[in-house]
Amino acid sequence: MTAAPPQPANVPSPRTVLVSGASRGIGRAIAERLLADGHRVSAGVRDPASVAALGAEEPDRLLIQPYEAGAGDDDPRGPRAWVEATAERWGGVDAVVHCAGVFSRVGLLHADGEEEEIARVLDVNLMGPWRLSRAAWPLLAASGEGRVLTLVSMSGKRMKGRLAAYGVSKFALLALCQAMRNEGWDDGIRVTAICPSWVNTDMAAAVTAIPRQAMTQPQDLAASVSHLLSLPAAAVPFEFSVNCQLEA
Ligand SMILES: NC(=O)c1ccc[n+]([C@@H]2O[C@H](COP(=O)([O-])OP(=O)(O)OC[C@H]3O[C@@H](n4cnc5c(N)ncnc54)[C@H](OP(=O)(O)O)[C@@H]3O)[C@@H](O)[C@H]2O)c1
Repeated sequence: MTAAPPQPANVPSPRTVLVSGASRGIGRAIAERLLADGHRVSAGVRDPASVAALGAEEPDRLLIQPYEAGAGDDDPRGPRAWVEATAERWGGVDAVVHCAGVFSRVGLLHADGEEEEIARVLDVNLMGPWRLSRAAWPLLAASGEGRVLTLVSMSGKRMKGRLAAYGVSKFALLALCQAMRNEGWDDGIRVTAICPSWVNTDMAAAVTAIPRQAMTQPQDLAASVSHLLSLPAAAVPFEFSVNCQLEA
């Protein structure tokens, strides 16, 4: 007797996807790719004018919403207003891609007065995705095939050098991804922590250890995100590590 064939994957397409940090860098490349794929993109940006050129040919599938990752739940630039505006426009949310983030060179033995920057890095890199995921959660669960993709970093898996503030924020973000995976599993929500090393964006502009062309390109990361969003729940990887250099 042959085994029953597997059930067809019930992956919504097109999806309604929130992309934070869509103004530039990795988030911008992902927003452009998802629009090209035919998805509905809700772009969260601090300055809507910065994305004037985005989606010029896809006005029906693009929503641009003011979003400040450090803003609280009820702030007009905070996560709740963004999620509500998206649900009002398209009736739900199927996925969130967390790209907004800041880099910091503040180290363990930081100068007096730099604690403020540490708090800011934690607020944007960790609490921003936490608040936004929480706001979108009921709609992700209602989707039945919700997805959360978070730009963590290799810096969320190992500490290199002395970048304590950034590394701590990313280790904590990876923990948040694990908590979200556990919380969402029974509702069909799948979480992927994307962990690249250097990506050729403004954030890596000061890096001289590796030529920019040898870094991971944001468009290649966007192609991976496009693929990850196409996968059924049973095939979604929890962690997606991307190295542009050998780390033995
Ligand atoms: N580039 C790398 O080598 C690399 C490697 C691993 C992981 N990552 C992670 O990938 C994510 C994207 O990085 P990227 O390389 O694209 O950086 P980027 O080019 O510097 O862009 C950062 C993005 O985050 C947004 N952003 C920063 N602070 C924000 C805030 N308070 N509220 C809302 N948006 C804010 C920026 O918006 P504005 O335009 O308004 O400033 C911009 O869209 C980050 O989480 C980063 O840590 C990057």
